[in-house]
Amino acid sequence: MKHKLALIGFGTVGQGLCEILLSKKEHLKIIHNFDYDIVAISDLLKGSVYSPTGLDIRKILDMAKSTQSLNEYKSEAEVHTGWDALRTIKDSNADIVCELAYTDIKTGQPATDHCRVALKAGKHVVTSNKGPAALFYKELNEIAKKNSVNFLIEGTVMSGTPVLNLAQNTLAGNNITAIKGILNGTTNYILTNMENGLEYEDVLKDAQNLGYAEADPTADVEGFDALAKVTILANVLMGENLKPADIPCKGISQITLNDIEQAKKEGKRWKLIGEIKKEGDNVIASVSPMMIELSHPLAGVSGANNAITFSTDLMGDITINGAGAGRTETGFSILTDILEINRY
Ligand code: HSE
Repeated sequence: MKHKLALIGFGTVGQGLCEILLSKKEHLKIIHNFDYDIVAISDLLKGSVYSPTGLDIRKILDMAKSTQSLNEYKSEAEVHTGWDALRTIKDSNADIVCELAYTDIKTGQPATDHCRVALKAGKHVVTSNKGPAALFYKELNEIAKKNSVNFLIEGTVMSGTPVLNLAQNTLAGNNITAIKGILNGTTNYILTNMENGLEYEDVLKDAQNLGYAEADPTADVEGFDALAKVTILANVLMGENLKPADIPCKGISQITLNDIEQAKKEGKRWKLIGEIKKEGDNVIASVSPMMIELSHPLAGVSGANNAITFSTDLMGDITINGAGAGRTETGFSILTDILEINRY
């Protein structure tokens, strides 16, 4: 089937997605019967362009590379430039909106409005944006159902590593009794390097330079990014309706080299752990640094990688380990959800 895509936000994820779509075009058509036109891209800083018959994506990527505004895109075909995000969502002929604007995990905006408007207009929404997913999942999913479209968020937890799909689809039939994970790459990278004797501040700077950290790294080191992901896991996989403020959260900024040495002596390792447990009728969630026994699968997860252990009634513990961030990896998460829409 052929889909028309609109990209709201054209940073690393949007560009990563375009690169994958270009390089896999034939494969996607032959193997998955999926074809596409990217008809619109709207970015607050990089400009905006809409062409009902589809944009030349190579040209768009070149423009982004040379920091030329998308408002300057020229074509023989019908082209509109300068539209803001909401107009692009409402007035373009896209049937799938990829919400890739910046993440605000405190308010969820402006991404949540982008999602609401798209879903109400009967367009599918695919997003890796943790703001709307952590704060408004239930509402947005209900609007999607009412309008017979999908609100898909695989990339919000562990980028393209298939966590939500694994739990919702492949593990369907199991009762998931607990979820325990390393959900933030920046803090895991910091803790791994502190074990090698490096100072907290130096390693945090590295993580920023390598592009793992959020724009404001407080979100990483104080645990708020992991908190958003714990909220998403609890709400999507355990049917809860929690808000981040309901969940106790502690980051890693107080962990010292001494603490790391002490853990080593005890045969343990510090990790920032997001945890959700069913206890009777209650679900208990938290984010905090924990000393993990070296024999636990999460103890071996190093650098910027993430991992989750699902405890299930039929399959026991299952751990999935993989990338938690990155241009191609998060771009792929968007493709996963688009292919899911294409399948039905
Ligand atoms: N800053 C996040 C991390 C990016 O370090 O994991 C992915 O959500």
